[in-house]
Amino acid sequence: MNSVMLVTGGAGFIGSNFVHEWFRQHPEGHVVVLDALTYAGHRESLAGLEGRPGFQFIHGDIADMACVSAILAEHQPAALVNFAAESHVDRSIHGPGDFIRTNVNGTFTLLEAARSYWQGLSASAQAAFRFLHVSTDEVYGSLSADDAPFAETHPYQPNSPYSASKAASDHLVRAWFHTYGLPVLTTNCSNNYGPFHYPEKLIPLVILNALAGRPLPIYGNGSNVRDWLFVTDHCAAIRRVLAAGVPGETYNVGGWNEKTNLEVVHTICARLDALHPREDGKSYAEQIQFVTDRPGHDQRYAIDASKLARELGWKPEETFETGIEKTVHWYLEHQDWVRAVTGGAFDAWLKNHYK
Ligand code: NAD
Ligand code: TYD
Repeated sequence: MNSVMLVTGGAGFIGSNFVHEWFRQHPEGHVVVLDALTYAGHRESLAGLEGRPGFQFIHGDIADMACVSAILAEHQPAALVNFAAESHVDRSIHGPGDFIRTNVNGTFTLLEAARSYWQGLSASAQAAFRFLHVSTDEVYGSLSADDAPFAETHPYQPNSPYSASKAASDHLVRAWFHTYGLPVLTTNCSNNYGPFHYPEKLIPLVILNALAGRPLPIYGNGSNVRDWLFVTDHCAAIRRVLAAGVPGETYNVGGWNEKTNLEVVHTICARLDALHPREDGKSYAEQIQFVTDRPGHDQRYAIDASKLARELGWKPEETFETGIEKTVHWYLEHQDWVRAVTGGAFDAWLKNHYK
């Protein structure tokens, strides 16, 4: 595929994996990354691609209409994939303002810039253009233990400032399809994990804290359930939706891997015990510490990804066990990346949030 793709938020966790995977699948591809490089965005996550033909990085903000419009006019992308967001629930509780600014106003700006650009395209280019918005299962709210997993028809019931801002963005995307005919696609995925995951989130935080001899903080009693999706499986799902998804449709993406947080942390400790044992011979599980629960903590997320399997033939390849093995190996082997993205502001976040 030689046409240009604009990837917003491509220096973040999922976006950077998506760009790496895209070039693996399409060595002749052409990707322009637009990223504001917030605390969560890192050029180091794209380091292997810098200087490569077909790759370009632009430092800019999705909420800046002049910037986005100029990029669209210059690069004439055939698709825009939007990963740019504030993505951490705990930060949205401490300070929701940035979440409204980027997730709501930023998505609105992208949609308006894309609409104006798209309206100026030829009829065939208009028909081929895709605006793919990456969203979350958290827009659906929280499930009880015996509820069916979230299908695409589940009502929106967001509970945190983060999920409310993502829900708002999904509604805008839907409206730009119904009102203006912009060919949009929305994907709502479950919790991702894997390489380049910023260590404020549960899985990388536990790996790094374990290795540093710090406590492994578990909110509440650890019984909350998440449905874990290995990030390269998610990237494959997005490629499939881009290629064959029906404009205006939404697709849920999940790993069929429901685990309690306590199970996740014990699995990580067991892998670390085997691959990088503690000097005193004890298990990393000794470092587990139960801490004050997150306010409004959603009990359970689970995705019914059968529409994507049935209509577009996508299924995840990784089990939680194979994915976590790869993830632990990756962090053990990429301590340089960890050092580059942590320190200063990250340490301040840990100190403030886990005091
Ligand atoms: P992330 O926080 O790791 O990365 C977000 C990226 O967006 C960063 O590179 C950041 O610099 C950039 N960004 C933030 N504000 C911006 C702005 N105003 N303009 C341009 N760039 C900006 O997030 P992620 O985990 O990679 O998530 C990507 C998308 O997937 C998000 O929309 C998120 O809501 C969604 N999602 C993530 C998960 C998950 O488990 N990580 C699960 C479901 C959905
Ligand atoms: P997180 O990785 O922040 O993702 P999300 O809130 O989007 O699901 O958290 C995953 C789960 O782990 C969630 O139930 C909150 C819990 N958690 C902890 O128990 N301790 C922690 O230090 C963090 C960051 C999360």
